[in-house]
Amino acid sequence: MEIVHISAECYPVAKAGGLADVVGALPRFQKELGHVTKVIMPMYRTDFLYKNEWQVVHKASASLGHSWFDFTVIKEVSNKLDFELYLLDINGLLDREKIYGYDDDTERFCAFQIAVLSWMNTWNLLPNVIHVHDHHTALIPFMVKYCYGFGRLSGIPTVLTIHNAEYQGSFGWNKTNYIPQWDSWKRGMLEWNGNINPLASGVKCAWKVTTVSNTYLNEMRFKSNGMEPVFEYEKGKCSGIINGIDYGVWDPENDKYLNDHYNVHSIERGKGKSKKILCETFGLSYDKPLFVFIGRLVGEKAADLLPQVINDCFRFIGRKMNFLILGSGNSNIEAKLIDLKKISQGDYNVYVGYNEKLSHLMYAGADFLLMPSRVEPCGLNQMYAMRYGTIPLVRRTGGLIDTVIDIGNQDGYGITFNEASVGDISNAIYRALDLYSQKDLFRILQKKAMSLDFSWHNSAKQYLDLYQNLQ
Ligand code: ADP
Ligand code: GLC
Repeated sequence: MEIVHISAECYPVAKAGGLADVVGALPRFQKELGHVTKVIMPMYRTDFLYKNEWQVVHKASASLGHSWFDFTVIKEVSNKLDFELYLLDINGLLDREKIYGYDDDTERFCAFQIAVLSWMNTWNLLPNVIHVHDHHTALIPFMVKYCYGFGRLSGIPTVLTIHNAEYQGSFGWNKTNYIPQWDSWKRGMLEWNGNINPLASGVKCAWKVTTVSNTYLNEMRFKSNGMEPVFEYEKGKCSGIINGIDYGVWDPENDKYLNDHYNVHSIERGKGKSKKILCETFGLSYDKPLFVFIGRLVGEKAADLLPQVINDCFRFIGRKMNFLILGSGNSNIEAKLIDLKKISQGDYNVYVGYNEKLSHLMYAGADFLLMPSRVEPCGLNQMYAMRYGTIPLVRRTGGLIDTVIDIGNQDGYGITFNEASVGDISNAIYRALDLYSQKDLFRILQKKAMSLDFSWHNSAKQYLDLYQNLQ
């Protein structure tokens, strides 16, 4: 079978969060199962672009509304990611430093989707499945079905994976001509809440819709940023497939970002060395347990609660722990976290920015990972943390429910709590300190967490079963 993934992110080409990790791994595991997999994504100005060799495979023009644009498709020559990787360049629109966050993101991603389909329209052999990810590529199922110019592609099954329904990419009907000439009877297939809503359109038009955990699949029908009725209505074609993690990248035994590798038998020495580097770099005390947070500093991750949690823990529990934060996002939260450095007594620090290497060192060197998310469709951080013997403290939501069992249960290896509130998070930290003081039990749980199997094999197979049922 030939599967084409179309996405705004793919690790290590361009990454803002977990979407990149998934699109960088899933096609590889599908290939291992004997299939041909291709990834098509926008060409941004990233290191990966400059450090690799490319071959031009297609050049053409297309139009977005009334304006024509030229586009070029390049292919990574050595197939170093194991799957075929294609970048699509639209001069002036896509070739930017960042992936998102520009005022013309609607234009950028509409033009990208149009260009991808215009190119695929010229292929001699069409793929068996088009698999799109999140709202940036979610107009493709509509375009394939209802845009006259892409009629040749209309028989190809489309699958949409929703990594996060909070972001839907809505835009006004005044931009309706961004969708290449389409069957106007199908207006309802684009519309949600008075706008063109790419994610809602994707759910309505894709042959199958998946999301990244079973619990999030159920949650979306009750809480999905206004799209609840769409998920209720379309529930028959939706399913949940939990993400895996890529042990080729995320394993303390061979992690290319770590100097001190370890496994379940050498955990004490291995984690100790990474913790030492972190404590020296960030001026923290090695003897205290280290709690880390790694992620986007946004409300969805409950990052806004962190300053008060840290303050309260120091005041009411005492200066018994270290906190180290890595993240970027909301400038208010960033400023508050930086300001908090004033109260540090060698027990708090923050790195504002994106730093892949540091994130690996933190999963390795930390004792606990904080993940109080308000919304977490799957969450990869908690799975990475466990692989590195770092005990996760997670809010009971989405994929966190499906991957972390509380230590109050016989099979437990993590700490879970109900609310994204300062009280519940602080209480979880209090429980973690108690666990940390029971050295033998703590070590047993670390080893248990490290031994869990979150590999991609099972999930990659579930996607293939889904595709096979579409043929
Ligand atoms: P989301 O995709 O919602 O951000 P996930 O838990 O699925 O959440 O994945 C987040 C990914 O992004 C992980 O690989 C995590 O390590 C990484 N990450 C997030 N913020 C940063 C950062 N500031 N620096 C380095 N890596 C980060
Ligand atoms: C999204 C979600 C996250 C998930 C990731 C990969 O960004 O917020 O929970 O792990 O996508 O699917």
